[in-house]
Amino acid sequence: MKNKFLIFFLTILFVITSCTREKPMSKIIDESLVFSAKQYSLMTDVMKDKSDLLPRTIDAEGKLITSKSSWWTSGFYPGCLWYLYEYSNDPKIKEEAKMITARVEREKYTTNNHDVGFMLYCSFGNGLRLTGEESYKEVLLTGARSLCTRFRPNVGCIQSWGSRKGWQCPVIIDNMMNLELLMWAFKESGDSTFYRIAVSHADTTMKNHFRPDYSTFHVVSYDTITGNIEAKQTAQGYSDGSAWSRGQSWGLYGYTMMYRETGLDRYLTQAQHIADFLINHPNLPEDKIPYWDYNAPDIPDAKRDASAGAIMASALIELSKYVSPEARQRYLHVAEIQLRSLASPAYTAKLGENGNFVLLHSVGTLPGKSEVDVPLTYADYYFIEALLRYKNL
Ligand code: GLY
Repeated sequence: MKNKFLIFFLTILFVITSCTREKPMSKIIDESLVFSAKQYSLMTDVMKDKSDLLPRTIDAEGKLITSKSSWWTSGFYPGCLWYLYEYSNDPKIKEEAKMITARVEREKYTTNNHDVGFMLYCSFGNGLRLTGEESYKEVLLTGARSLCTRFRPNVGCIQSWGSRKGWQCPVIIDNMMNLELLMWAFKESGDSTFYRIAVSHADTTMKNHFRPDYSTFHVVSYDTITGNIEAKQTAQGYSDGSAWSRGQSWGLYGYTMMYRETGLDRYLTQAQHIADFLINHPNLPEDKIPYWDYNAPDIPDAKRDASAGAIMASALIELSKYVSPEARQRYLHVAEIQLRSLASPAYTAKLGENGNFVLLHSVGTLPGKSEVDVPLTYADYYFIEALLRYKNL
């Protein structure tokens, strides 16, 4: 009788623990990468015939919206294909990645905004890394030189946008991401101009964009003649003083990347301060996918931004490699929750739905009522990157 009771008790215990046991991260990562490859193969079937266009998002009816290569997100779709080729080693995906990457080449001459780094490094940069294709180097070097034309020596920064809204020389936190192209160009060419511009931009941004709590302003605008600060404001956040979520993630990613590329301790310290601000923020939800702004007035009903969560996860996984075992554990813990959340049906679309994008629920520009609660190529790009980074830890 005693034995029967024990077996019954153990069976119940087994059933309860297997129901509540979390899926291992390795399974989540592989399932998500396999799903992403399937979803993007459907996307590529659609995009093949769209000559020089790139996917951007979907409209209210769920119909695909495309963009020309000049839109700032053009490099992310080819970048997703390169990452999926890296994962799968599938020659078909490689051919598609090459075909789509070529659509972005003309952007190497872009000098009217700072986004050339996003456009070219995610597409041609990944292509070069994975294939060694020599012709991609010229594209990247030309693009890096184009980006340098926007460096303003009296400010110490690369100008992000043209003058607008009373801003003479607006510099946005997002611009940190474009420095990766310059660091590549420095290593490739040996020309220290690229290095000096990247470090000057990162140092000036560290000094002027961040508040004492290590949150960042979105836009800092400078006087073009004196180099003095003329405004600290926002374009995409809730208010000038708020912490726009994707901007915080760009900052975290940017300083982590600059530490990797330069080995300068000040960038590691900055990245850790930003990470600690974000992971300890009282408005970071339990699933660790940020609201579109950490200070959105309608929290907890505010829209989430999966792109901010994906960029943050990818950055935290990289940062975890450079810090103490205690900090590593804290950063990876948050990144794991973020990947679990993004990989769940709450954020991952069903096959063939969502315009064939992977993630749901991102926000482009809420104050401009543009791309609110939609899929976005950069959410997918940094999600797939984060999955691969975690897999390669
Ligand atoms: N760089 C533009 C954005 O993050 O929306």
